[in-house]
Amino acid sequence: MQLSSTLSWLVDAAGAAPGADRLLAEVGARLVADGLPLAGGALTLAVPHPLVARRTWLWRAESGEVIEAFGFAAEGFAAAAAASLHDDAGRRYLDLSAGLICVNLGHGHPKVTQAIAEQAQRLCYISPSLFNSTRATLARRLSAISPWAEGCRTFFTTGGGEANEDAMKIARMVSGRQKILSAFRSFHGSAPGAGSLTGESRRWPNEPGMPGIVHFFSPYPYRSPFDTTDPATECRRALDHLELVLSFEDAQRVAAIVIEPVVGSNGVIVYPDGYLAGLRAICDRHGILLVFDEVMTGFGRVGDAFASLRFGVTPDIITFAKGCTSAYMPLGGVMVREALAEYFDDVALGCGHTFSGHPLATATALAVLDAYEAEDLFARAKEIENWLREGLGALARRSAIVGEVRGLGAMFAIELVADRATRTPLLVTANDARAIIPALIGRLRELGVCAFGRSNVVLVTPPLTIDRDELALGLSALETALADLTKAA
Ligand SMILES: Cc1ncc(COP(=O)(O)O)c(C=O)c1O
Repeated sequence: MQLSSTLSWLVDAAGAAPGADRLLAEVGARLVADGLPLAGGALTLAVPHPLVARRTWLWRAESGEVIEAFGFAAEGFAAAAAASLHDDAGRRYLDLSAGLICVNLGHGHPKVTQAIAEQAQRLCYISPSLFNSTRATLARRLSAISPWAEGCRTFFTTGGGEANEDAMKIARMVSGRQKILSAFRSFHGSAPGAGSLTGESRRWPNEPGMPGIVHFFSPYPYRSPFDTTDPATECRRALDHLELVLSFEDAQRVAAIVIEPVVGSNGVIVYPDGYLAGLRAICDRHGILLVFDEVMTGFGRVGDAFASLRFGVTPDIITFAKGCTSAYMPLGGVMVREALAEYFDDVALGCGHTFSGHPLATATALAVLDAYEAEDLFARAKEIENWLREGLGALARRSAIVGEVRGLGAMFAIELVADRATRTPLLVTANDARAIIPALIGRLRELGVCAFGRSNVVLVTPPLTIDRDELALGLSALETALADLTKAA
């Protein structure tokens, strides 16, 4: 088997910003009024306001600390183990989000840290154009767990956004078409290419953006863009809408449709039954490539190696990052099914990254895959799904501001509402005008829990190694924080 081709890189087989929270709430409320209910959070970066402009991830020169995004005092985090984080003051926190939904294995797995140390002693770097057995073995392992019987080849990147950009390039080259479609309610990365592919507000700072990208509305049963409360109708109307968009864009000019099989940071939206299969059928009808962005859903997050396997819908290309190394090292990639990748046997894939297939990252991924397998963690995510359905379901029954609990595997979210009947998004706390998510995340931090949320949605996406008691403690803290923030002043 040819493991590395000369023609191709494919390998076979804040210090608080006072007042910013209030502004965030105002901006969020304005967007809701404008009919964009799930907005806010990072969205404010696009708004030219001095308070908002201070909310930034840029490093502060004088202290070397990142300015906190959520407007509360920053502790430095010094260490982590399993599902726990430890700050400089020695306080312990439960990591209820697995970092940015990426530390699937939990922190500090000894076999992985040992593999990193051993690889560092052996070989820290090799040019991507030179053969490296660690990289080749990883490509083979990915092929083996991929949804394709024919196997796949992988192009390695350093993260998810870069993987999506390279996927667009590959799709354009293979198809000879230029247009790419993606959902409005999506996040595919932050740099200008992936940022243009992104449909939500984090696209705006990239505009006018990359030409040839067109957005469409995908289903969101809780807040239907298609005027229905029936998931089956939502599914049918969403597919009809997509066909209509394609007819106006000329389907023959469309290279690929890129979609998160479960919407991630835009609210953990599980598409209604039949939607992903319907997308596959539309792609087949028009000769369009289907790309699943599995950056968040891959590597066990939804109870299988890939969401594609969980849903039984097979795309042509999968992009990944995050859980591949459990975030111990930066690594992403584009998996291209074999028959499609063969195109590059004769045509040069005109790209390459200095860090593509970096030995430290690929060795990490191999050790992480070993751990996932040895501990049967993809199946464990399905067990966590049962705990979350039960625990979050009970929490929702006791907390009137929880409008909906949704998710699958170890990927759940609660959507907060001011009124269950009208489903009005809850964007500010009841007792003052602080934006709900920063306030909630801050309160949770005081209660010893690190969590992640955007707009009016809190994600519950623990490491796949979390035990039931730890999770129960996390959910109990979440309930306390929700109650504290809804109490009258
Ligand atoms: C679905 C999805 N795609 C792409 C990305 C971007 O990945 P990265 O931050 O590694 O560039 C993310 C990040 O959260 C994501 O959730």
